[in-house]
Amino acid sequence: MSDKAKLHYNGNDYEFPVQQGAIGPDVIDISKLYAETGAFTLDPGFTSTASCESEITYIDGEKGILLHRGYPIDQLAEEGHFLETCYLLLYGELPNETQRAEFEGAITYHTMIHEQMHQLFMGFRRDAHPMAIMVGVVGALSAFYHDSTDIHDPQQREIASRRMIAKLPTIAAMAYKYHKGQPFVYPRNDLDYASNFLHMCFSVPSEDYEVNPVLARALDRIFILHADHEQNASTSTVRLASSSGANPFACIAAGIACLWGPSHGGANEAALNMLAEIGSTDRIPEFIERAKDKDDPFRLMGFGHRVYKNYDPRAKVMQKTAHEVLTELGITDDPLLDVAQELEKIALSDPYFVEKKLYPNIDFYSGITLRALGFPTSMFTVLFALARTVGWISQWREMIEDPKQRIGRPRQLYTGPTQRDYVAPEKR
Ligand code: SDX
Repeated sequence: MSDKAKLHYNGNDYEFPVQQGAIGPDVIDISKLYAETGAFTLDPGFTSTASCESEITYIDGEKGILLHRGYPIDQLAEEGHFLETCYLLLYGELPNETQRAEFEGAITYHTMIHEQMHQLFMGFRRDAHPMAIMVGVVGALSAFYHDSTDIHDPQQREIASRRMIAKLPTIAAMAYKYHKGQPFVYPRNDLDYASNFLHMCFSVPSEDYEVNPVLARALDRIFILHADHEQNASTSTVRLASSSGANPFACIAAGIACLWGPSHGGANEAALNMLAEIGSTDRIPEFIERAKDKDDPFRLMGFGHRVYKNYDPRAKVMQKTAHEVLTELGITDDPLLDVAQELEKIALSDPYFVEKKLYPNIDFYSGITLRALGFPTSMFTVLFALARTVGWISQWREMIEDPKQRIGRPRQLYTGPTQRDYVAPEKR
């Protein structure tokens, strides 16, 4: 394995150091390229660019592998629970019993939000998309929790981290209740994380609400599947926003805004809307043809991935969870599940999808599951943001604690006009 990469450019020879990771591709450190050669690299979409060093999540796109601090996602999802995965992502190890109890206790006691924040919701139209409310209210946390905005104070970073993991479900549930026109429901300290979220979303003051443990377990697993995913678009947004020293609440709000896009976290809402538009299996060929048509902007939502060129390991667990939830709810003939399964079968045997290595991703089956759990499609990306908050925060902490951290400031290939003089209006 060579530890140097050679470059011949403009009649000169250059060498750049090569670094090996614990696993995965080597990196060629080009941080001195511009200083030594006067040239930039160009990599729109960052398909060949490692933006940082990280110990949190590893993805092997060719093999369909996803590890969180070395633990495979399917094992964490099947054997563990979400707050344990949060602890693992934040601190690097699975918690022992004492650590788990302390962490879960701390999260439980941070679930309420400042009562004054309830007024913020009143400023939105009732039909506002819940993601618009999430961006606004999460960003506003920095206006209420000044005592945990100093990113250079480890204690404040810890409090801000725990506050966001604890309060995101409360804010998400409030966004849902506001959208529905129902009263907000306060969190309860006797319920686990997923059960509390179901309670805050679906209970009403006029009658008792019993959380279904099978559905709570399924939701907890869905949170695990969405927790972190290396340097995806929204995580890179959080890292870049944080690199300027912005407070953690504002940076997480930036991540939520980026996640909202249909090419990213918004794909779960778009995928379910697509399945509903297809409506029945006999219309699948028409949509497959549209997805392949270069002149048609339509794409199969929930299919394809920048990194996975194999089956997204999360999609497998999500598909299993979809069946579990539908069975528990006695839904034996969900037409959208039939369409999804038939669409997957046809797509995976179609040369276009095979050649381009397009497989179902996490968003393909999540919508069916979340709809069965009772959530409207507009809440799907909100749940994604709720779960991904721990991943954003873990990556944010890793970057802030890195002594080599600097503000992110990419350059460009300029193709605009060269210098020219101002022309008086009467001469244009
Ligand atoms: C998430 O990065 C992450 O880790 C994200 C995520 C996470 O956990 O954070 O995993 C979550 O965002 C999952 C992805 C959800 N998005 C979708 O399901 C939307 C549909 N998928 C596509 O928009 C697309 O596949 C992307 C955005 C996911 C990936 O885009 P890339 O890597 O830029 O790939 P591309 O657009 O260059 O596509 C390569 C080729 C193109 O054809 P050619 O120009 O080479 O002829 O494949 C085609 C595309 O047209 N293609 C599709 C397709 N996805 C790619 N054709 C039809 N349907 C699709 N879904």
